[in-house]
Amino acid sequence: MKKQIIVGVTGGIACYKALDIVSKLKKRDMDVTVIMTKNAAEFVTPLSFETISQNAVIMDMFDSPDHWEVEHISLAKKADLFVIAPATANCIGKIANGICDDMLTTTIMATKKPVLFVPAMNSAMFENLIFQENVQKLEALGYSFMKPATGLLACGDIGIGKLPDPEEIVDYSCNLLFEIDKRKQDLVGRKILITAGPTIENIDPVRYITNHSSGKMGFALAEAAFERGSTVTLISGPVGLSCSKGIRRIDIGTTAELSEAVHDAFKDTDALIMAAAPSDYRVSSPSKEKMKKTHEDLILTFTENEDILASVGKIKGNKCLIGFAAETQDLIVHAVKKIERKNLDFIIANDVTQEGAGFSGDTNIITVIKSDGSIKSYPKMSKREVANIILDLLV
Ligand code: PMT
Repeated sequence: MKKQIIVGVTGGIACYKALDIVSKLKKRDMDVTVIMTKNAAEFVTPLSFETISQNAVIMDMFDSPDHWEVEHISLAKKADLFVIAPATANCIGKIANGICDDMLTTTIMATKKPVLFVPAMNSAMFENLIFQENVQKLEALGYSFMKPATGLLACGDIGIGKLPDPEEIVDYSCNLLFEIDKRKQDLVGRKILITAGPTIENIDPVRYITNHSSGKMGFALAEAAFERGSTVTLISGPVGLSCSKGIRRIDIGTTAELSEAVHDAFKDTDALIMAAAPSDYRVSSPSKEKMKKTHEDLILTFTENEDILASVGKIKGNKCLIGFAAETQDLIVHAVKKIERKNLDFIIANDVTQEGAGFSGDTNIITVIKSDGSIKSYPKMSKREVANIILDLLV
């Protein structure tokens, strides 16, 4: 079946180059549908895009409301990839801030499919911090960006902001499609065990200690692994998240329960990814009854819990073990110690003091350390993107 590409054309002087992009995508046997903004139609006529794409151009969502309501959802679903070229600062700013006031922005907001923005604008606009913040926000949410070229701009300035060569844009789009396709199938036949969320340790029947883990990192891993064809077992602490029906989910409370579930499931798995944040200690003697106020300081005694990863590390055989390290200081030093002590293949270190990293949010900032000592740091990205990077390591 032909790949379905939606090309979004927004109003910039580089619009005419989008005709060449559409033509080149067609030559690579793709089915292309063009959505234009009204401003784009001031530069190039919809008829030109219609002739080259051999599909009706979609532009005005207010022409016949009953029609577009169906149209933007069906486009959002049928696409394999959205390529927005040229993408103006205005269009990127609107998407970054949840504004959908035309057919293009509405369709992009309605899609779960990959979106590639190819910005083109004056260099001062491109370098403007407001624009750069919008780009970072969208990148963190999983949208892709192609860097503009540098050269003589339409305004006469020389600098960054030119739309890259159409051939390069088409190559970039094809690579993205290839990556997506590869990801779809590369874990078929593999069994992956993933842990997520916090554990809780009771103080008495109504109180417990826990931590800030929301489960989002582990759930993102489970969903990405499932999407890539793996059989997934997800062991989760108490979190408010749900997962796809095909994922086998086991809910636990305490670190001891997590340990039992992990050891049980590990027998029949190819890899374990421990994204959970188990409590290192439990209350030594939890009270059977609700503890009463005494108006004096309360002293609790804690007993160390089992280090689950370290114990699995002793029996790992040729299975793959991936741990996380949540640190607040000396990230690499502590993470390296953990990879050795727990006999891991990789450790994913996150400095949880950094904004956008670690607990609760939708993004993470990771450094991957391999057992051979090699280290690679990544910029802030969505937890789903982080998940795919970790799964690439497994593959
Ligand atoms: O859940 P989110 O809100 O999305 O947040 C994600 C996260 C910050 C929880 C995640 O990215 C993360 O860092 N998880 C590991 C948290 C942690 O417990 O780190 P640690 O450095 O204390 O432990 C190192 C490794 O040993 C971890 O893989 C942990 O799962 C494991 N461990 C820890 C304690 C223990 N008793 N047994 C273990 O197996």
